[in-house]
Amino acid sequence: MDRHYSVNKDHGSTSPSIGRMMPPQTNERSYPLPRKSIFLAFLLFCSVISYKSLFIVDGVMASDKKEPMQYRYTTVTGYFLQDENSTNPDTFDFATQNFGLINREYDTDASVDSPSVSQWQRFGNKLQALNKEASEGTRYILVYMARHGEGWHNRAERKYGTKAWDCYWSTLEGDGDIFWADARLTDEGASQALAVHALWKSKLTEQSILAPERFFVSPLDRCLRTAQLTWSGIDLPSGRPFNHEVKELLREAIGIHTCDRRSNKTYIQSTYPFKVEPGFAEQDPLWVPDLRESNPYLDARLKQLLDDIFRHNSDTVFSLTSHGGAVGAMLRVVGHREFPLKTGTIMPVLVKAELLYGKGPESPKEPWKPKPDC
Ligand SMILES: *[C@@H]1O[C@H](CO)[C@@H](O)[C@H](O)[C@H]1NC(C)=O
Ligand SMILES: *[C@@H]1O[C@H](CO)[C@@H](O)[C@H](O)[C@H]1NC(C)=O
Repeated sequence: MDRHYSVNKDHGSTSPSIGRMMPPQTNERSYPLPRKSIFLAFLLFCSVISYKSLFIVDGVMASDKKEPMQYRYTTVTGYFLQDENSTNPDTFDFATQNFGLINREYDTDASVDSPSVSQWQRFGNKLQALNKEASEGTRYILVYMARHGEGWHNRAERKYGTKAWDCYWSTLEGDGDIFWADARLTDEGASQALAVHALWKSKLTEQSILAPERFFVSPLDRCLRTAQLTWSGIDLPSGRPFNHEVKELLREAIGIHTCDRRSNKTYIQSTYPFKVEPGFAEQDPLWVPDLRESNPYLDARLKQLLDDIFRHNSDTVFSLTSHGGAVGAMLRVVGHREFPLKTGTIMPVLVKAELLYGKGPESPKEPWKPKPDC
């Protein structure tokens, strides 16, 4: 079990351990034993007939019934412009490019007879076929990764420059002019989210774009507000409710920066119409003032989040509203090329997820870090 962010496997909820978050020395996780060794263990225990051994065997077998623990991810290229080396992330505009969906034919187009069927509808048909033909344990998943609109911390970092921001200003809650602890959206950030709202609306009507079936959001205010502005009032196809769930592990890199320390559960629940995941703590259990999560830990955390989400939801289309750093980590985890998202933008990623049994990935080695010197 990862000591840092422990996942409650019975409910699929994340209940990060409370207390000081020193980088753990080891990062062991429990994975289900192969069936064969469970059978051998069963025989062994049966030969030692005592109440206690039967009890233990029962425990092992019960854990075997739980779902497998993790996935191997790859990005399926050839469908979205963002996957191609020739697409420049600095100039690419998902809004004018149909979210990046490449205009092309698919081998499954013949089964869609109407000539008026949109590119997105034909893509949806292709995605369905991919899943139908996939071998057992393999899924094709479309993930819309969204970055929040501009927050006050983004503006403050521009005001002071990244070096001074990282070594000094980010550790404060504000400068008397701007306040950035659990940074709120600026007016510009709210406009970006409303523009994305209008974009979804028009794409749903004109293109029948694949609507998310399941929505998750970071617990930081700028993401909660972005998700609310983007999705409330959108008429989703039937069976696709506006059902955001707040996930602790979907947050930005943890520590030092006060903009990445979340508000309490009471505030979140009284401000937003979202449900929090089971086990969600009242007070931020992860943020620490003196160390910042390293990229290997960030990647491992986002991998754990994706595993958790996909293990407990059999849907095919997901929306994750998160942050620049966290999205960057998810892209590394699913083997996507680097593609820094600007504030208030979204990108679809087609992911192949294969169930894996056995030992998990190596523990991250690079510890959390103190702030740089000024
Ligand atoms: C994209 O660039 C990477 C790194 O330069 C390279 O390994 C990869 O083959 C390229 N992909 C395509 C489709 O050209
Ligand atoms: C939660 O946060 C709000 C707003 O910051 C604060 O007023 C309230 O006292 C906090 N409640 C708890 C239980 O921490």
